[in-house]
Amino acid sequence: MAFQYLNDRLHCESVDLKTVAEAYGTPNYVYSETILQRNATVLKTCFIDRGFKVSYAMKANSNPEILKLFHSFGLGMDIVSGGELKLAQHLGFTSDEINYAGVGKTLEELTLALEAQIAHFNVESEFELEQLNALAGSLGRQAPVLLRLNPDIDPQTHPHISTGLKTNKFGMDPDLISSILINPLEYPHIDFHGLHCHIGSQILNPQPFDDLIDYLAAFTAGLEQKGVELSDIDLGGGFGVNYHDAFEDILTTTPYLESFAEQALGKLGQYQLHIQPGRVLVANSALLLAQVLGNKANGDHKFVVIDGSTTELIRPALYDAYHAFYPHEKQPNSSTGDIVGPVCESSDGLAKGREISEVQTGDLVAFASAGAYASSMASTYNMRPLCPEIMVGVDGGIKLIRRRQTFEEMIALY
Ligand code: LLP
Repeated sequence: MAFQYLNDRLHCESVDLKTVAEAYGTPNYVYSETILQRNATVLKTCFIDRGFKVSYAMKANSNPEILKLFHSFGLGMDIVSGGELKLAQHLGFTSDEINYAGVGKTLEELTLALEAQIAHFNVESEFELEQLNALAGSLGRQAPVLLRLNPDIDPQTHPHISTGLKTNKFGMDPDLISSILINPLEYPHIDFHGLHCHIGSQILNPQPFDDLIDYLAAFTAGLEQKGVELSDIDLGGGFGVNYHDAFEDILTTTPYLESFAEQALGKLGQYQLHIQPGRVLVANSALLLAQVLGNKANGDHKFVVIDGSTTELIRPALYDAYHAFYPHEKQPNSSTGDIVGPVCESSDGLAKGREISEVQTGDLVAFASAGAYASSMASTYNMRPLCPEIMVGVDGGIKLIRRRQTFEEMIALY
């Protein structure tokens, strides 16, 4: 149990979070190396050991220490920008460990990736295919491609993180994909390796995944009948996590992952299968630690104002997302209110209408499951510096894995 109350005080392993706040200030993110290792182990056992290639979706959290940890477990990188490509290269990921997804890639980014000879370009449009073909030709290279298919499947998640529906910008029409693959010579500098799908994120109901696997089995069988030979299928990411219990272990998610792997192998096992999970590897590995600035009430509506904000955790504002709230000093819930940050937006709440315990100015509080899409989506809105990231190691030691941005660094760009 990595995050836990010991003597009624919130700890990461045996480190009292008060020690972290005193050393590095608040707000900050505290990560557990133990949880990251456990998550990577589960993904390895469920997928890599079954023959899948697993690329971590770097956008979920791109802290280099985390990327290096995943690399040591055999995970590759799923990137979506030239910047992510450069980071992967900087950290020593080899060309065959990098896949490039995303609905819009600039010519400069495509060139960088061609020169890096990455494993796959996941192409999402005809225009991108034409640009890639032309660039590859001019560089005297062949571009390895998976075409991203839009299967029009509802992932049953928040509309802002659904990507598999026709009304979403992602992927290509199945008929267009068929016609491209039936006439591949129209793109002489493209090597078509297969298909890619990513229908959405935070998917908790296995049904959309079952539908996706069935869809792809039927679609690829139809293509094979027309003489199209494919070698690779990338099923994307999207595995959901339980945001209601910060202390839950990934092992409770394991049957869901195993069943996905078995289904995919059963119906698409003739292909080299790939997945690109992000959230499930990192979400439960961190807390956002903040300090209470004070309590206030507008009429009978109570607010707890803390020094953490949407700038550090934008998910509640963007997706009405729930993140479990834990006071540093354990006590029973005694009132209902909103927990808000200092940022000048009414959407700047980290929790709305939440049953909370009595907290006072200066108390420490934490929002759980802040490992995915928190730090990587942080901003400096209101001239708030990017905050530090701290890792509690398996050895119990505390390591600063990103320091707080300074005012001088913020102003230097102007
Ligand atoms: N592959 C592709 C092509 C993706 O676009 C994504 C995520 C993933 C893989 C990884 O998905 P995951 O396993 O993490 O669900 N900011 C939102 C999530 C956006 C997901 C974007 N794409 C949130 O905080 O919920």
